[in-house]
Amino acid sequence: MAYYRIKGGTPLSGTVSISGSKNAALPIICGAVLAGEPCRIENLPDIEDVHRIIEILSAMGATVEQPTPDVAIIDPRGIREYKVSTEMASKLRASYYMMGTLLGRYGYAYVAQPGGCPIGERPINYHIDGMRALGAEVIDRGGFVIASSDHLRGADIYLDMPSVGATINIMFAACRADGRTTINNAAREPHVVDVANFLNTMGANIRGAGTDVIRINGRKELHGCTYAIIPDQIEAGTYMVAAAATKGDVIISNVIPAHLEAISAKLMECGVEVSEGDNGSEFFLRIRANERPRACNIRTLPYPGFPTDLQQPMTSFLTVAIGNSFVTENLFEDRFNHVRELNRMGARITVNGRTAIVAGVDKLYGAEVSSTDLRAGAAMIVAALMAEGTSVVRNIHYIDRGYEHLTEKLTALGANIERVEE
Ligand code: EPZ
Repeated sequence: MAYYRIKGGTPLSGTVSISGSKNAALPIICGAVLAGEPCRIENLPDIEDVHRIIEILSAMGATVEQPTPDVAIIDPRGIREYKVSTEMASKLRASYYMMGTLLGRYGYAYVAQPGGCPIGERPINYHIDGMRALGAEVIDRGGFVIASSDHLRGADIYLDMPSVGATINIMFAACRADGRTTINNAAREPHVVDVANFLNTMGANIRGAGTDVIRINGRKELHGCTYAIIPDQIEAGTYMVAAAATKGDVIISNVIPAHLEAISAKLMECGVEVSEGDNGSEFFLRIRANERPRACNIRTLPYPGFPTDLQQPMTSFLTVAIGNSFVTENLFEDRFNHVRELNRMGARITVNGRTAIVAGVDKLYGAEVSSTDLRAGAAMIVAALMAEGTSVVRNIHYIDRGYEHLTEKLTALGANIERVEE
């Protein structure tokens, strides 16, 4: 097992370029199944979860060529297997997208329950309800979901929660249904919009993505296309927090500032300087901090609220704030596993139900800590970068799932970080 050895205390400085969005890339790779021709997908992040989802498509018979790690040319015409095994599906949450795409393209999907970070129960009932609303028969038994329909029909669907996965999965199946589907209380995340734009590039007819009402007029056929993934909102936010937490001066390039409003606002509330610019070809944000942050309160909410995926790195930053911060996690019922690890580094956090009370301390101290999930791992990296002394961060396979070239990017910003393969 590999681990990171990080000597903290160095202010990050320089420029980091953000990679393609994990949470857009995963559904878009699956969405290529809906086309009757090859799709060329660009700006893919070179991360474990992308490798795993490509393995799933290849195992079903699709041809996937990668001339470079950031490009995938996916030809779904060889697919003969409409089943995703437990062994494959359990490797990541996004395997559930094979339900909507296989059902939409072939009228049949046999998909094992997905895996994903241990941050709560994470059911897929909204996905199943959506498929049933479109006319599919869905059996949810023995750890598998079997969905079938010889004629999907458009429907008016209301989501109890603006679920990212359910919104995207329903869009996939509805693209090939007869007639119009309306998704009410739809998720509005940037990656939902990116998937809708990708599908429209394939000839789908989707309107309203980015609002809470999405309308899809089904199409008989979808054609191949070339599409470039948007920059990763969460990777960008993580580097923003790391720059602030180390009292650095970092330019974060290749971002879409509008996607980062919530994190920018919170960092500025803490006293961090956030400025926006463009160098003619791409937008960047500049993060500067040189004093101890002020405390602030965080409530995670669906987009455009504060992203749940940045709650954990932000909590690391707030451990040394002046005053008490209250961090409320509204999306997942078990997303505070990083707290135990931060307290080992000298933080003073107590969890009361959905709220973590972060009492600011002067500093964190290096320690041996463990990543309990992807974004908890990111939180450990931020904490180790800002701590006095050296830390060891274990279970970094979680981090490999969602952060491309982390060692190289942080080293280029001046961090004292070493990846050790045991
Ligand atoms: C996606 O997960 C992301 N994963 C998560 O990012 C992200 O935290 C989450 O959206 C929220 O933004 C991917 O895109 C692969 P949801 P997803 O459906 O689709 C409940 C990361 O670190 N719910 O919006 O699973 C669910 O339990 C990962 O990159 C149901 O009850 O999130 C949760 O409490 C972690 N029934 C809430 O809704 C359902 O059928 C939001 O879940 C679906 C969801």
